[in-house]
Amino acid sequence: MTHTVHVPLGERAYDIQIGEGVIATAGAFIAPLLKRPRVAIVTDETVGALHLDTLTRALAAEGIESVSLALPAGEATKGWPQFTRTVEWLLEEKVERRDIVIALGGGVVGDLVGFAAAVLRRGVRFVQIPTSLLAQVDSSVGGKTGINAPQGKNLIGAFHQPSMVLADIGILGTLTPRDFLAGYGEVVKYGLLGDAGFFEWLEVNGPALAAGDVDARAYAVRRSCEMKAEIVVRDETEQGDRALLNLGHTFCHALEAATGYSDRLLHGEGVSVGCALAFEVSSRLGLCSQEEPSRVRAHLKAMGMKTDLSDIDGDLPDANGLLDLMGQDKKVIDGQLRFILARGIGQAFVTSDVPRDVVHNLLDEALAARA
Ligand code: GLY
Repeated sequence: MTHTVHVPLGERAYDIQIGEGVIATAGAFIAPLLKRPRVAIVTDETVGALHLDTLTRALAAEGIESVSLALPAGEATKGWPQFTRTVEWLLEEKVERRDIVIALGGGVVGDLVGFAAAVLRRGVRFVQIPTSLLAQVDSSVGGKTGINAPQGKNLIGAFHQPSMVLADIGILGTLTPRDFLAGYGEVVKYGLLGDAGFFEWLEVNGPALAAGDVDARAYAVRRSCEMKAEIVVRDETEQGDRALLNLGHTFCHALEAATGYSDRLLHGEGVSVGCALAFEVSSRLGLCSQEEPSRVRAHLKAMGMKTDLSDIDGDLPDANGLLDLMGQDKKVIDGQLRFILARGIGQAFVTSDVPRDVVHNLLDEALAARA
């Protein structure tokens, strides 16, 4: 069964189709968008080996011809060299203004291909086929596209909404448990930021979801996409409320920078640690009860997620070093750090009103606990 989440953005509106096996029927979903029966697919070598064949056959079944490019897998792909290669390949393949480009892959492919589509011939349409849980619940929806700069992650890019998102729940079964759980960090984030009932549902159903329950996975992806769509429609270009989607990310981005964007800490793992820290700060500032951070950590721990700085292997900077890294955060305004804090589970808000010493002391204690 396929569920549709509509993203009502006026002339940029689109549907997210969520279900088991949607890649095998991708041709039927994509055909109505096409002006001519030809698409260009960009994927990575790992995802391509697993799913490209299914996609090209699904397109061919509807009479759609396809050409494809497979980039190296991994975060290092998300920079100028592979971006240039992609744009020039799309031009060599004579992709026209009215054509569709398909991004088949996780967040790296989705972000890079979306950005390529944003600038190719001043903008062509693209379809996201996210193959990781993280991409299905977060990066494929909402139109943030881009690549990394030597100065930091996602610092070069554009808002460019996809024309459709096809989230195939079945292919989540091909993820490693670690990659799946990293994506789960973003799922929990939605409950924590705006839907206490969803967080309660995750407390009960999280283990089944991780074990492979397709209905539970479909519901979690659907609810996450509904929440993301609702926030994106309110604030497409992140002038305000969209920053709520960055719950846990101020800490996460500093920890990712501190660990060299390596597999010492995956993005979703950093989100999990960051959410636990954001609730701890909220409790220390008297915004929520002490039970709330304990409940957040208990669920993340029960799922086998990272929650503490002691869960990160290797050296980390001291508290001042981590605070300096937070200063690179895109949410900084006039040099002032902004945090997403919470008055309780499901009640997040954006604030600059966080005394530096509260964050410093928390980080100091968390680092001391690693010794
Ligand atoms: N991943 C955060 C956003 O799309 O705004």
